[in-house]
This record gives sequence, structure tokens and C-alpha cells, in this order.
Amino acid sequence: MHLSVALYVGFYVLTSAAGLTESAPGSSYVAAVYEHNLVLNPEPQVPLSRPEALRHVEKNLQIYEEQSERAARQGAQILVFPEDGLQGFNFSRSSISGYLETIPDPQQENWNPCTEPGRHNNTEILQRLSCMARRYNLYLVANMADLQPCPLSTSPSSPCPPDGHWQFNTNVVFRSDGQLVARYHKQNLYFEDAFDSPPQPEIITFETPFAGTFGLLICFDILFKEPTVTLVERGVRQLIYPTAWMNQLPLLDSIQFQQAFSLGANVTLLASNLRHDYLIMTGSGIYTPFSATFHHANRGDPEEGRLLVARVPVLDPLGAGPSVTQEEGAVRDESTSSAADTDSGCCHQDSCLDSSHPETTSAVSPSSVTFNSSMMYDPFTFVLLNKTEGKLDVCQGPLCCHLQYRQSQQQGGTQELYALGAFAGTHTVNGRYALQVCALVRCAGLESSSCGQEVEEAETKMDFLLEGTFGTRHVYPSILASRHVLEQPEHLEKTADGRVTMKHSNMTGGLVTACLYGRMYQLDNE
Ligand SMILES: *[C@@H]1O[C@H](CO)[C@@H](O)[C@H](O)[C@H]1NC(C)=O
Ligand SMILES: *[C@@H]1O[C@H](CO)[C@@H](O)[C@H](O)[C@H]1NC(C)=O
Ligand SMILES: *[C@@H]1O[C@H](CO)[C@@H](O)[C@H](O)[C@H]1NC(C)=O
Ligand SMILES: *[C@@H]1O[C@H](CO)[C@@H](O)[C@H](O)[C@H]1NC(C)=O
Ligand SMILES: *[C@@H]1O[C@H](CO)[C@@H](O)[C@H](O)[C@H]1NC(C)=O
Ligand SMILES: *[C@@H]1O[C@H](CO)[C@@H](O)[C@H](O)[C@H]1NC(C)=O
Repeated sequence: MHLSVALYVGFYVLTSAAGLTESAPGSSYVAAVYEHNLVLNPEPQVPLSRPEALRHVEKNLQIYEEQSERAARQGAQILVFPEDGLQGFNFSRSSISGYLETIPDPQQENWNPCTEPGRHNNTEILQRLSCMARRYNLYLVANMADLQPCPLSTSPSSPCPPDGHWQFNTNVVFRSDGQLVARYHKQNLYFEDAFDSPPQPEIITFETPFAGTFGLLICFDILFKEPTVTLVERGVRQLIYPTAWMNQLPLLDSIQFQQAFSLGANVTLLASNLRHDYLIMTGSGIYTPFSATFHHANRGDPEEGRLLVARVPVLDPLGAGPSVTQEEGAVRDESTSSAADTDSGCCHQDSCLDSSHPETTSAVSPSSVTFNSSMMYDPFTFVLLNKTEGKLDVCQGPLCCHLQYRQSQQQGGTQELYALGAFAGTHTVNGRYALQVCALVRCAGLESSSCGQEVEEAETKMDFLLEGTFGTRHVYPSILASRHVLEQPEHLEKTADGRVTMKHSNMTGGLVTACLYGRMYQLDNE
């Protein structure tokens, strides 16, 4: 079922054995996400009148309308559009005014903007989206700009902005009859002058008849505890993720972190990105812990939108089943676990480096030969892979990363340099977040100083086991191959003491990055 639906729209589908047993008949649904090449306002710093703003938004709404129809024809029950997809970005607090609507709180009132357009003034965008959901009989998620009046106060501790209202970057959800059922205000803004963060983080979910509960987040939120991890900790296992994500290799490419979050949190993620080449925005997908259907444009591809549709299993809340552990982090693929561990002969206790095994000893490089190089603005400690196979360790602070690897022969004899890196510290550029990261990366050149720089392509395929001892249970694993293709890790495992292991072999493309991205949420404010 997964395969037929996904292949028919023509994208990459990765399905591990476990996925096929997950969906009993009736316990799956068809999800769609649209990567939108938006029509921009060329002068976002210049305020527009309301009619001018609506004329601009209408160009994007027309594309939404066409894609809603296409998605419905393919059986989609829920369709997700990206962050900023209607108005664009780079507005100031005042120049966005023509685009703002006051979105009523669906927890306070039931309103169907399509059938009761007169109930609230100045809601043309809400009406248009509501009628789309209704016409195509699907749940529709879009992102727009909300204005909410707030009580002015002279108290400096008042959260209300001095102009007497908040402006929020907002997800809205419409039921298949058009009723507005959820409204979520983005918590973690990323250089968005036009918007405020809500005074309290909002944990927003909604119910569907076909798949139960979904939770809402937006773009940068995915890296933070609120609301994302709180949603997951409350048992929400299906997340909706409009984004406008600027890709940053080698660790934070859009699809790479989308997959990583889905695998690490053991959840489904419906991720819809913008397509905008100048800002390096592309990469959307439908991810479950067992499969990924994704799209990521490459350099030179025509700059256009892309609809993805896939049938995916309903994920029941964890804790409901009999054999579920308390850990909410990594995935354990039951179909491969025990056999794989034995085959590989992998073990990483000190005793395994016992010199009575000659072939093991010769493969161990001295771990002391490390160097520092910056990756994504963070000072990683690296060690080079300078053989075709071997074992390596690299540590930074309390974090130790271990790698066992075997390169398959490279096509055309191209020489490519790889390094294993560790970072334990707080990232502070363009956002502050505490990390523990183990990453195997292809270096951009043949000098060790190029390790950690961006590279998109690789020819070297590698069988590997990557492991780290983390001080958090929030570890997000991913494997990115050449030209932005994800591979589904063959095996993932996590132990109670914080050790996370990712094993993979038989790659279909050259390896760009294999990463275990640990988030130390508890240290973010220190
Ligand atoms: C955003 O606006 C500023 C100021 O007008 C401009 O310098 C910058 O290039 C704009 N950025 C984008 C991505 O449009
Ligand atoms: C909508 O706007 C009109 C004209 O400004 C006003 O007369 C009417 O009371 C408003 N209706 C609502 C529901 O706010
Ligand atoms: C992940 O989810 C699957 C399916 O819902 C479940 O069987 C498995 O136990 C979960 N894994 C972890 C580590 O919680
Ligand atoms: C790498 O950086 C760490 C501090 O981050 C420092 O203690 C260490 O000496 C550096 N190593 C090299 C080889 O420069
Ligand atoms: C690999 O690196 C180690 C440590 O720098 C060095 O001793 C060894 O000679 C290197 N091996 C090869 C094959 O280059
Ligand atoms: C990888 O490929 C080899 C050779 O084709 C095969 O024997 C092995 O079973 C494959 N491993 C996995 C995990 O698929």
C-alpha cells in the first residue's frame, strides 16, 4: 500500500521491513504535503493596502486551490502547506499589516468561515482556505499572519506590545467541512521582525476521524523543547510541520533533520517547505519511523512546487501497547536488531580492542590524532578516516563517538576524505541551543581543514556503525547521501544509559553525512 501510492507520484520511498507490519487494513491514511514555489511581494518593506495585499495573496491561493484538487484526486485526507506560503517573508511589523487577519480561537468558538463568512470581518484568507478544505473534502493546514488585540498596560512586565496587539506567525487547520479547528502561534521565531512570540508556549492538537490526534509546530520550533518535545511527551505521535527552512549542510539540511526528528522521536512528521532557490529553501516530506517519502531539489532543477502524497500508518499513542518501553527516543527495528549485532561482530567495550585479535588491532587508528575544525559555527573535534576500513573514536567533553567503517570501492578512483567529529557544547550563532553531536562527514576537499564545510555530493559508499554516549535521550539520527537523498538506517538502538547506535550498509548513493544529533534541552538557558 505504501509503495503503490508513493511510487505513483514518483518520489523516493524508503520502507524498512518493520513498516510493512505496522499498518493493518483500516489503520492507515493518505497524507499530502506541498512544497510551494511562492509568488513573492517584491517589496515586502513597503506597506500595502488591504485590497493590494489580498490581490497578492490570491496568486498563492490559486496555486493552493489547484494543489488541493490534485491532492484530493489522489485520495489525500490531509494536506499541509508551508510556512509563509501566502504572504512571503521579510516584512516589518508595520509593512505586513495588510496581510493580517484576526483569527478567532477555535477553542472558544465553532466557526466555519466558508459557510458563515459574515461572522467576522476582514477574514477573506480564512474564508478562502475554509472553502478549499470543504470543496475538496480534506483537512487543510496553512500558515498565515494573525493579529490579536491585547490589553495595553504601562507596566514594563506586561507582555502586550506597545501598539496594543500581537502579531503571530500562525498555523490554521480546517476540517474537511471547512470548520476552523486549530490555531497555533509559532514559539521560536527566526529573524522575523513582523511577528511576536506568544506570551506562553502553545501546545495545540486537533483530532481527525481517520488518524486520531495531530500536533502543530512551525519551522525553527523543531529544534526546541517547546512546543515540540512537550507535544511528543504528551503522547502526540503525528506532527504537522509547515516550514520555510534555509538549508545548511552538513548537519541541518531540511530533509535531513525532518527524517532525524521522525526517527529520533518515533513520530510521523508531515513537513512542507517553501521552494526558493536564492534563500536555499527546498526539502519536504512525509516521514514515519519506518518510511520516508521526500523531495529535495538539486542545483539547476527548475524552481517549481512539488506535491507529495503517501499512505502512512496511523501511529497509536505510545504506552498503549503491551511491549513498549518508557524511552521515547530512538527506534528499534525489531526485524534486524539481534541478528545484525551478531553479524557485524561489533562491540565497543575496551575489551574488544584486545590485541589477541590481529585484524582488529590493525584497524584501530590512534584516537589521539585529532584536530579542531568548525562545522556549522561549532568547534568540532575530528579524526580522519585514513584507511578503507577501521575503527575510530573521538571525544569532546563528556561525549564520545565511535565509528566502525568499511568503504566499498569508489567509482572512477575519486579520492574523497571523511572525518568523524564530536561536539558537546552550546551553539550560539543564529539561535542558542545546547548540543551533543556525533557526525561522520565527507570533507569538502582533501585537506583536514575542509572537514565540516558544506558538500552536496559524494561517491564513496560505506558500511558503518556510528555510536555515541549521550547525556540526553533526545538524539536524532539521519543518513544523507549524495545530491540530497535520504537513506533509512538499517538499525537503530538506544540503551538506558544514553548509548545510541546507528548501523547501515549497502548504500545506494555516496555518503555525505551520517549523524546522531543530540539535543541537551535542559542546558539551553545556561
Ligand atoms: C530583506 O529586506 C532587507 C531590507 O530591505 C534586504 O536588504 C534583504 O535583502 C531582504 N532579504 C530577502 C531575503 O529578501
Ligand atoms: C464589520 O464591518 C462593518 C463596517 O465597518 C461594521 O458595520 C460591522 O459591524 C462589522 N461587523 C462585525 C461582525 O464586526
Ligand atoms: C516506536 O513506535 C513503534 C510503533 O508505534 C513501537 O512499536 C516502538 O516500540 C516504538 N519504539 C520506541 C523506542 O519507543
Ligand atoms: C581543540 O579545541 C579544544 C578546545 O575546544 C582545545 O582544548 C584543544 O587543545 C584543541 N586541539 C587542537 C589539536 O587544536
Ligand atoms: C592514518 O593516520 C594515523 C594517525 O595520523 C597515521 O599514524 C597512519 O600512518 C595513517 N595511515 C595511513 C594509511 O595514512
Ligand atoms: C548487503 O549486500 C550484501 C551483498 O549483496 C548482502 O549479502 C547483504 O545481505 C546485504 N545486507 C543487508 C543488510 O541488506
